[in-house]
Parts: sequence; structure tokens; C-alpha cells
Amino acid sequence: MKTKEVTFTVEEMDRSEVSTEGIRLLDAAFAALPNAHAPYSQFRVAAAVLTSSGSVLVGTNQENASYPVGICAERVVLSAASAVAHGETILSMAVVYRPLAGPAQKPLSPCGMCRQALHEQRTRQNHPIVLWMTAEQGSVWRISDASELLPFAFSAKEL
Ligand code: THU
Repeated sequence: MKTKEVTFTVEEMDRSEVSTEGIRLLDAAFAALPNAHAPYSQFRVAAAVLTSSGSVLVGTNQENASYPVGICAERVVLSAASAVAHGETILSMAVVYRPLAGPAQKPLSPCGMCRQALHEQRTRQNHPIVLWMTAEQGSVWRISDASELLPFAFSAKEL
């Protein structure tokens, strides 16, 4: 028997240590947070991406009375970027949130479905997507390639 070890690095930092690009994206995501449509969970999430042309696009979670129809902020902004900035490379994404209980401390990392969507985008563009994550308080996490969140990913290669 052989074993494989999968590791990746998460950088944890104070807001004062975040790059200008990271701050730009995190600020854009926080500004979009009120646009979440989350009447059912009261769990607001916003994501912002920086594209290769220098544009920043934002997305927020969009829930639905038919619960499974709801879509996460990360996939909203990935879909928007593919539609309105088609062909551009997504260089980085920031994800922020506010739960029902109010401002949180711990960064939010994307759900499994969004990890799959990030992996597909990363493969399409053949360029890593830097991922910034934070809550309204506490530290900021940075991963240099969001695909690392989904080891052994299913991809078009398997079809
Ligand atoms: N949600 C996101 O938008 N992104 C995540 O990474 C996790 C969950 C949304 C989906 C739903 O609207 C609410 O948060 C509660 O699950």
C-alpha cells in the first residue's frame, strides 16, 4: 500500500498585512453584503473578483422560496464574470459574510459546490485564482490557488 499526503498552505494575517489588491477586493465584497438576498437563512455572503482587465465584479447569495434554487455568492460572481467579462482571467476572489447573529470572527471558506465551480474556472483559464477570506472581525486568510481547496477534484478530464 502507498499513501498520498495532500497539503496546502493558508496564510493567516491581520488586515494591516493584506495587499492593496486584497483590500480592494475585500472592501468591494463588504460593500455588496447588503445586496444579499437571504431572507430564509439570514446568512449574508458576498464575493468579489478581480479580472485581468482590472475590473472588480461582485456577487451575493441569492436565495429562493424553493430553497434548492438558491445560489451562493461565489457562483453568482463566477457566472457573472463568465457572462459579462467573457474570456478574462479571474486573478483573485474575496469572500465575506455576516451570519444571523451579527458580525463574525472566523473567515468563511467556500462550500463544496463553489469549490467545484472555482476548480472549473481555474482549469478553463489555466491560471490560479487567489482566494481571500475574512469575516467582519478577526484575521484574513489567503490561499494562492483556490483549487487547492478541492483535492482529487472531478473535472472534464474524467468525462
Ligand atoms: N452560502 C454562500 O453564499 N457561500 C458559501 O460559501 C456558503 C453558503 C450561502 C448559501 C445560503 O444562501 C446561505 O449562505 C446559507 O447556507
